[in-house]
Amino acid sequence: MFKAKKFIEITINNLKKEISGKSLIAFSGGVDSTVCAALVYKAIGKNLVAVHVDTGYMRKNESNEVKELMKKMKLNFRFVDASKEFYNALKDVYDPEKKRKIIGEKFIRVFEKVAKKEKIEYLVQGTIAPDWIESGGELRDTIKSHHNVGGLPKSMKLKLVEPLRDLYKDEVRNIARELKLEISEKQPFPGPGLAVRIIGEASPERVDVVREACFIVEEEINKAVKKGIMKQPWQYFAVLLPVKSVGVHGDQRAYGDVIALRSVESIDAMTCDYSKIPHDILDKISTRVTNTLKEKVNRVIYDITNKPPGTVEWE
Ligand code: XMP
Repeated sequence: MFKAKKFIEITINNLKKEISGKSLIAFSGGVDSTVCAALVYKAIGKNLVAVHVDTGYMRKNESNEVKELMKKMKLNFRFVDASKEFYNALKDVYDPEKKRKIIGEKFIRVFEKVAKKEKIEYLVQGTIAPDWIESGGELRDTIKSHHNVGGLPKSMKLKLVEPLRDLYKDEVRNIARELKLEISEKQPFPGPGLAVRIIGEASPERVDVVREACFIVEEEINKAVKKGIMKQPWQYFAVLLPVKSVGVHGDQRAYGDVIALRSVESIDAMTCDYSKIPHDILDKISTRVTNTLKEKVNRVIYDITNKPPGTVEWE
């Protein structure tokens, strides 16, 4: 059994020895980076600078919520709106691995800019085991380049510190509970964000569509969980597909986008089963997505693939 208390104690001691100067943490506000920030803060205090990057691919209101969380945790933080840079870098990019590499590199360039200005030497990341296992390397096939591993540029000036590298998600959640962090049960969200939930070009117009669809999926499922109709899935979201289909609005022909609903059960993200969501909840989601995004989306489908052979995200 994983001993969270012991891990916290050993890691704080190790971090005190490993880090001898100012450090920057890539802070997304998810379980991994928040746990990581809490541990490093305990080790080096205000020498830790938390940087949250709004990539333009975050969920609805997410960057503001992350800002509030950093304030609550009393972190010394910086907030960088890099959405224009990210949108420009991903213009005309269709290949999922290319997208991931560009995003990984963009993140590092933003961090390097802050680091240079503030004379920071170390980059702390909340990388966990599935991130580097799936990113391949010399011993394994690359399933997908996680932005914080396979997306790292070769010429990086910062020294990397990854205290959660050997852990799985359920273990990180245990640490979060032990540290009484409010995000302990938050569902995972990939670093490249909504960019990998848009199949094809991740343009600003398409991000707006998938962002609203993700918001509806989360809100409807959260409501159903609160009412006791279903249990909380491990992860649940929407994906915008690169196909159009014919539909009908009133008595008029429509030709619009397709949203795929993805919801999975897992323990460690290495495998997953699709969630058996009650049909009336699926119905609510489908109706609300097509009503809210009337001019854009006229079809919603449900992904019933496990991992393997699928993965959790579509890209
Ligand atoms: P896949 O799609 O590989 O996802 O089955 C497994 C888990 O990892 C998340 N994910 C990422 N997390 N950077 C991250 O920090 C990434 O590049 C990335 N890609 C996928 C995914 O949401 C799921 O929880």
